[in-house]
Amino acid sequence: MVFLPSCHSTNEYANDLTKTSNALEGTVVITNNQMAGRGQMGNRWEAEPGENLTFSIILKPNFLKVEKQFLLTMAVALGLVEYLNELTAGFNLKWPNDIYFDGKKVAGILIQNAIKSQYHETSVVGIGLNVNQKDFSYPSAISLYNITGQQYGLQEMLEEVSYAIEKRYLQLKFGETDLIKQDYLQHLLGFGTERLYDDGKLFNGRITDVLDNGLLEVERNEGVRHYNFKELKFVFGDS
Ligand code: BTN
Repeated sequence: MVFLPSCHSTNEYANDLTKTSNALEGTVVITNNQMAGRGQMGNRWEAEPGENLTFSIILKPNFLKVEKQFLLTMAVALGLVEYLNELTAGFNLKWPNDIYFDGKKVAGILIQNAIKSQYHETSVVGIGLNVNQKDFSYPSAISLYNITGQQYGLQEMLEEVSYAIEKRYLQLKFGETDLIKQDYLQHLLGFGTERLYDDGKLFNGRITDVLDNGLLEVERNEGVRHYNFKELKFVFGDS
């Protein structure tokens, strides 16, 4: 465990650690005050100091082939959503790797991989979970406090979340990929049910699968289509 009172980005710090030291698998880098948090697709991740969990786990999934990299995302997202649903029901996964509650985002995951000979050498799994923060500049963000009205101990929550993720990671390591995929789909917003999407045009569709490389399979009137990250937006009631 590496605790940093403040830092630019725990993912950056953890990535540097993997290059400059022989960091052990399972090393967690956590900060109270992340000043330049990184999000998906070059976005920023904002979190008020001392109110939320912002941490990165160093993993060495050298059993996982590059083309199956999304299985790691599935395992991590699943561990996280299962943990949250134990606190209170109603969390689900929004493809590819966001955790949502009632149409709002409570947590995000950013995984950065270093590849060697078609396998993963190290993966830095960054997690931002909105815990006790009350107000957000983005209307689509929400915290556990906003949902349950309770304040949570960050240290205890870190241990519990890490445990839940480790449980799913070990399943991945021991080849239980069908189980992980099946359970990921069970928690996936829009899986098997018709809802509204936007791929430049609004349309009704039904998610039928997520491939091991992360492509989303959607069934629509015109037939089945596969979407890459950012090619498809979910349309929520108030958006
Ligand atoms: C997203 O865009 O949804 C992913 C957000 C990931 C944020 C976390 S916070 C801890 C870790 N360090 C970072 O710089 N980013 C991740």
